[in-house]
Amino acid sequence: MGDTAKLSMAGADFDYPVIKGSVGPDVVDIRKLYGQTGMFTYDPGFTSTAACESALTFIDGDEGVLLHRGYAIGELAEHSTFMETSYLLLNGALPSQAELTDFSRTISRHTMLHEQLATFYRGFRRDAHPMAIMCGVVGALSAFYHDSTDIADPVHRKISSHRLIAKMPTIAAMAFKYSVGQPFVYPDNSLSYTGNFLRMTFGVPAEPYEVNPVVEQALDRIFILHADHEQNASTSTVRLAGSSGANPFACIAAGIACLWGPAHGGANEAALNMLREIGTPDKIPHYIERAKDKNDPFRLMGFGHRVYKNYDPRATVMQKTVREVFAALKVNDPVFEVALQLEEMALNDPYFIEKKLFPNVDFYSGVILSAIGFPTTMFTALFALARTVGWVAQWNEMISDPGQKIGRPRQLYTGPVERSYVPLSKR
Ligand code: CMC
Repeated sequence: MGDTAKLSMAGADFDYPVIKGSVGPDVVDIRKLYGQTGMFTYDPGFTSTAACESALTFIDGDEGVLLHRGYAIGELAEHSTFMETSYLLLNGALPSQAELTDFSRTISRHTMLHEQLATFYRGFRRDAHPMAIMCGVVGALSAFYHDSTDIADPVHRKISSHRLIAKMPTIAAMAFKYSVGQPFVYPDNSLSYTGNFLRMTFGVPAEPYEVNPVVEQALDRIFILHADHEQNASTSTVRLAGSSGANPFACIAAGIACLWGPAHGGANEAALNMLREIGTPDKIPHYIERAKDKNDPFRLMGFGHRVYKNYDPRATVMQKTVREVFAALKVNDPVFEVALQLEEMALNDPYFIEKKLFPNVDFYSGVILSAIGFPTTMFTALFALARTVGWVAQWNEMISDPGQKIGRPRQLYTGPVERSYVPLSKR
């Protein structure tokens, strides 16, 4: 018999089981609460609510720990590849060489898009934000790949997961090409997942494109850092959309829409825009004061996190990667110096210390992506590309659970109580 949590109310006691995970906080199972007491719990923003059981990713926000299937993100970033980490997230264990080769080949076989999708792009304005295009095109995939939308069939689920992971770089690169008016570049399956994406983005049909191995490795690492992050807003959106039985392409489009917001994936674009606006280190104190001012909506973008109350382990890897990319490309964007000094000043400021606000994954990623040549509008699209593996792994985990139910939160109603309709002539 495990622990129980006791709720005492109006002279009655109610017991609720306490469930233990493999590591991390225990949870109080309150599923019977409403039936027994007629009350709901109230937790806007889900700050104290575990909405599901999951074996994919563990975060200890106080210690700055992030594990995928038990492996530390720092180790994966240093030793793994995005393809291997994707396999790990989807299958629960690191692959053998044969399994990795087979998985990489399968993904590369799905990189092309239905040709008719190219005409779909032409319906967008040239200045459309790539995330608007991503939402539309990914949602539209269900109209092109009907043959893998039976979510009750594990084979269909596997094929649609592979299709989504494989096609996302093609979709994102085409969004970029469309915005700059260059022809789409078809995938080259002899390249790595990330090398292929670089070529589709920066290559042109008129010239051969050579993948810079340092850039390829840096971008692959950025993809690893974004691959999954437990029950964040976009992943929860994917799960909620999927809980109704919606097809995976529609669910991932919902996740992309949620990721776009500046409090979530949109922060990488906002962070670099902010650093450029600050421009020089002497302006930093002014922006720190603005971030602390409750009457000013300005926040330090790329700072703070719902779960991390310590340095985001992904930001540590990002900062190191900036130096590698700068050295390889022989660039030195002054915005990096602004970022370093802003971080130092914020981390020594009582406001940020007291609220435990540290740089998150988005603080340095934009500096690297910009050095590689991506415009800021592409940053969140790259986040979506990488997070797709996490979304599909979480979606698969949910659909495979025999106890899965439609997600249906309740509310604390504060509107008018029932009243009689007043005819227009009497109002
Ligand atoms: N700059 C200034 N103050 C901040 C910041 C910030 N970046 N972040 C939080 N605070 C303050 C906030 O004003 C609040 O103060 P008070 O308690 O006096 O009202 C306190 O810290 C707690 O903030 P919160 O908004 O209640 O915390 P939250 O967990 O709801 O929000 C967050 C987390 C990430 C949305 C928020 O920290 C934020 O807006 N950061 C900037 C955007 C950003 O970088 N987002 C990327 C997150 S990491 C990548 C991802 O998951 O997508």
